[in-house]
Amino acid sequence: MDFCTLLVTFTVVGFLVWIFAILCLDSDILTFAYSCFGKSLDRFYSRKVVWITGASSGIGEALAKELAKHKAKLVISARRIDELNRVKQECLELSKTMTDKDILVLPLDMTDYASHQHAFTKVLKHFGELDILVSNAGRSQRANWEEIENEVDKELFDLNVFSLLALNRIVLKYFYSVGKGHLAVMSSVAGKNGIPFSASYTGSKFALHGYFACLRNEIASKKMSVPITIICPGPVFSGFLKVAFTAKKGQEFGQGVRATDKRMSAERCAYLSLTGIANELEECWMSLFPFLQLTYLSHYQPYIAGRQSLEMAKHVWASNEN
Ligand SMILES: NC(=O)c1ccc[n+]([C@@H]2O[C@H](COP(=O)([O-])OP(=O)(O)OC[C@H]3O[C@@H](n4cnc5c(N)ncnc54)[C@H](OP(=O)(O)O)[C@@H]3O)[C@@H](O)[C@H]2O)c1
Repeated sequence: MDFCTLLVTFTVVGFLVWIFAILCLDSDILTFAYSCFGKSLDRFYSRKVVWITGASSGIGEALAKELAKHKAKLVISARRIDELNRVKQECLELSKTMTDKDILVLPLDMTDYASHQHAFTKVLKHFGELDILVSNAGRSQRANWEEIENEVDKELFDLNVFSLLALNRIVLKYFYSVGKGHLAVMSSVAGKNGIPFSASYTGSKFALHGYFACLRNEIASKKMSVPITIICPGPVFSGFLKVAFTAKKGQEFGQGVRATDKRMSAERCAYLSLTGIANELEECWMSLFPFLQLTYLSHYQPYIAGRQSLEMAKHVWASNEN
């Protein structure tokens, strides 16, 4: 076989393997590769202090439990104190080596900006340091675009974007002062695609990518070392549709997810997210078919990911909810 034939064969085989991986994996190729061959989560997270917002249920709860298995010290925040205490108890049972003081239950309404500094002071008082902030608290939305009230846009951005930025600004200054730290931000595949019937939510997640892309460049230009990992899950099993915003102020969507829905488990999502953080990936995507594939298309081939792929997403979305 001459050199040209060999080159063409390698290129074609490589391309087919790449397509196969995109179609079959439940995360982007890099995240999947690191989940198999990357840093040991045990070694990376052991004794690290990790603050998770929105840890009283869903993905945040799963992150706390996965971290407890890897012996991290945890700060778990949200508004529902009973649920946080339950998560703490379950983490202690899972870990076996953790003691009561290794998990700080820190009630926090993210939209109460005035309480952020005080909450962070409590973290430092309790653990003496912070290594990783995982900004996970957030709410979704189901609404027709033209019916969304301005107040809903504002309230949703207040929680999903502005409160998150405010807390990250406080923590970033601390990370600069100690010369270490890691910011992890829970976005969504809705931060990469125009997901129908979730306009304010999709807008809020896109906004996070913009804000943190700027920060990443500023950090580099200041020659500081604070990695930022943006996590983009597709549909995940959690109670998040129940409390999702609608188009009307004060209204919640109120529907639960069904066991038959096409969604990733919160546990798998947490594991892949922690893989991304440990290996300092800038972005990691995780989802079942077709949302991961749609994300590839809209990221790399936006002219192909047109209305047809959105139609496909709409049908899957609708069949998840009806
Ligand atoms: N589930 C999915 O399909 C999916 C997909 C992609 C991305 N995500 C993202 O993942 C994150 C977690 O969602 P989830 O699916 O795990 O939903 P979830 O179970 O409803 O969890 C949301 C968490 O955010 C907290 N939260 C809500 N409002 C808050 C506030 N004002 N202050 C502080 N905490 C607040 C909730 O706690 P309290 O109610 O106790 O305050 C809860 O712990 C969100 O950012 C969401 O956008 C979810």
